[in-house]
Amino acid sequence: MNILVIGSGGREHALVWKISMSPLVDKIFVAPGNGGMADLAECVPLNETDHDGVVKFCRDKNIGLVVVGPEAPLVAGLVDRLEKENIPAFGPSAYAAQLEGSKGFTKDICAKYNIPTAAYGRFSDAASAKKFVREKGTPIVIKADGLAAGKGVIIAENEPQAFTAIDDILGGQFGDAGTELVVEEFLVGEEASFFALCDGDNILPLATAQDHKRVGEGDTGLNTGGMGAYSPAPVMTDEMTARTINEIILPTVRGMKQEGHPFKGVFFAGLMITDKGPELIEYNVRFGDPECQVLMMRLKSDIVPALMACAQGNVDKIEMIWHDQPALSVVMATKGYPESYDKHTEIKNLESVAQGQSTYIFHAGTKCEEGRIFAVGGRVLNITAMGASVEIAQGKAYTALDQIDWPEGFCRRDIGWRAVKREQLSGPK
Ligand code: AMP
Ligand code: GLY
Repeated sequence: MNILVIGSGGREHALVWKISMSPLVDKIFVAPGNGGMADLAECVPLNETDHDGVVKFCRDKNIGLVVVGPEAPLVAGLVDRLEKENIPAFGPSAYAAQLEGSKGFTKDICAKYNIPTAAYGRFSDAASAKKFVREKGTPIVIKADGLAAGKGVIIAENEPQAFTAIDDILGGQFGDAGTELVVEEFLVGEEASFFALCDGDNILPLATAQDHKRVGEGDTGLNTGGMGAYSPAPVMTDEMTARTINEIILPTVRGMKQEGHPFKGVFFAGLMITDKGPELIEYNVRFGDPECQVLMMRLKSDIVPALMACAQGNVDKIEMIWHDQPALSVVMATKGYPESYDKHTEIKNLESVAQGQSTYIFHAGTKCEEGRIFAVGGRVLNITAMGASVEIAQGKAYTALDQIDWPEGFCRRDIGWRAVKREQLSGPK
């Protein structure tokens, strides 16, 4: 079978890497891909927003499965179109993708189907939003309704901050994503992510992860798309995982079916583990980046039958086998990210890093020019490693990273710190 992967990040490189190990696969195409994938897939300059073009490409190349990596093409209805053309596609319909595309939509689903989440209100005028803030008190969380590249969430410590956030969002700071907003209660606890595949009726639980959203060490500074991640998340005990499945994921599956729009694809549930148990912070409807990188490294089984089953049903009949060992991924970004940064700097010495099943460099914002690799984006490389403990995986990742010669790049040196501290407190294994 030929497979087309849509996207260009480290997540897509990890998906391509894993898919390439499947005996079911003849050829992988990736649109548009990046500078690190050429040995595994053919990068093609297809525009994901040109649905006619994608359909034509699938017909010409006899594509048996399209795997959509990022959220934007899902929200824009690429999977709906492919399904109409009888081309199997991994990912939800545009309607179901509102679970990520509209925070208000998700909160209403939670309310209707009794899914634990922070108490909230939806507003499109500033006066009512501010009245709600006055009633609820601070700290409080203000969120632009739509997709805002991870930047549309403001945790307001006091009323003036909350009011400024409300005025900024409704005043157009995030464009159309902020014509409406959600104001919600501030949850206290530890965050974790849970991933599960779904075919509309059945789920296949995958694994847990934790990421580091802030740019600076000690989880400080500006929010980013993610500076690193590890899997599993120690806070997700078997009990918390079972509760997440029963109290959050399955009611969502039933709810979306009842709404007439069953969810197919991957649930990426952002959770707060509070003293009452797991509460939903948000859904994403695609794999996390860099969470996908650590998940793919830990996955022993062939991923292709599972992705196909999401499109075609019977995902519950698939068994996934995982490495018990944790995996950890460190993001190298261009200095200046997440603000302004150089868009063309050379990365050297990548070839000196020994790569294999338990150490791998996934590329994100890179470009290959005549055999030389250039950084052309914010998040650029994901140095990913697996080991007997988070600390060992962390050591392997940083050892590999330190061989890379890229003066314009930087990383956090403390990825996994919370899990490492837990390991140290619980003593040697
Ligand atoms: P989101 O884009 O919804 O994941 O929000 C980004 C980050 O804001 C989350 O990862 C949390 O750290 C934080 N956050 C969002 N909602 C809440 C909440 N209700 N209570 C506490 N923190 C939150
Ligand atoms: N790492 C967070 C995300 O992919 O949304």
